[in-house]
Amino acid sequence: MKYIIANWKAHKSIEEGEHWLNTFLNNYSVRPNITVIICPPFPLLYPLSKKIHPVQNLFLGAQDVSEFEEGAYTGEVPAKVLLGLVKFCIVAHSERRKYNHETNENITKKIKLLKKYNIQPILCISKKEEINADAHFIAYEPLEAIGSGKNTDAREVEQTKETFDLNADTEFIYGGSVNEKNASSYFKTSAVNGLLVGTASLDAVEFSALIKNI
Ligand code: PGA
Repeated sequence: MKYIIANWKAHKSIEEGEHWLNTFLNNYSVRPNITVIICPPFPLLYPLSKKIHPVQNLFLGAQDVSEFEEGAYTGEVPAKVLLGLVKFCIVAHSERRKYNHETNENITKKIKLLKKYNIQPILCISKKEEINADAHFIAYEPLEAIGSGKNTDAREVEQTKETFDLNADTEFIYGGSVNEKNASSYFKTSAVNGLLVGTASLDAVEFSALIKNI
């Protein structure tokens, strides 16, 4: 199975998200060996879920989760609240490490809670020290490749993976300036199991073309 993950970051209103989904569904044909995971901002999860849940191999993911299980934590969104809405959750994106000062300690708590509630964490890392053995999905995102238009070459990604000592069954995802032109290059070897797509996921036509090209 190959995983193509759309990370919308802090983009799109509910109306824009619904429009994106309608356009995407008109352009997208389900492929048995490709799982697509859409990660919109929290308030879009529920409105989009009605159209996403019935489609085969199409799932919703959250972009983050609280490190608290539940309680008096104003503004937090715990795994328990996401239950039933998402199958996946991005954790520790480098933008959260940078702007929200997330540490490996916070991230360990998040992964634990997601697993407790049967939500699959997608752990973002940019270096070996950030790997957490409890995460089955590891998204390797070199900092210089994110949003720069300068994707890291597939061969280099493969070589870096070899230095990571991952479990044999880890789903290894690459992210950083993936677009419809370079996406297929990552699947020429079996080292990469999926792609995390930011900018190129914001346009539904471009994102469906990216999937088609794989
Ligand atoms: P990008 O973002 O595709 O715009 O480089 C990827 C990411 O940050 O997940």
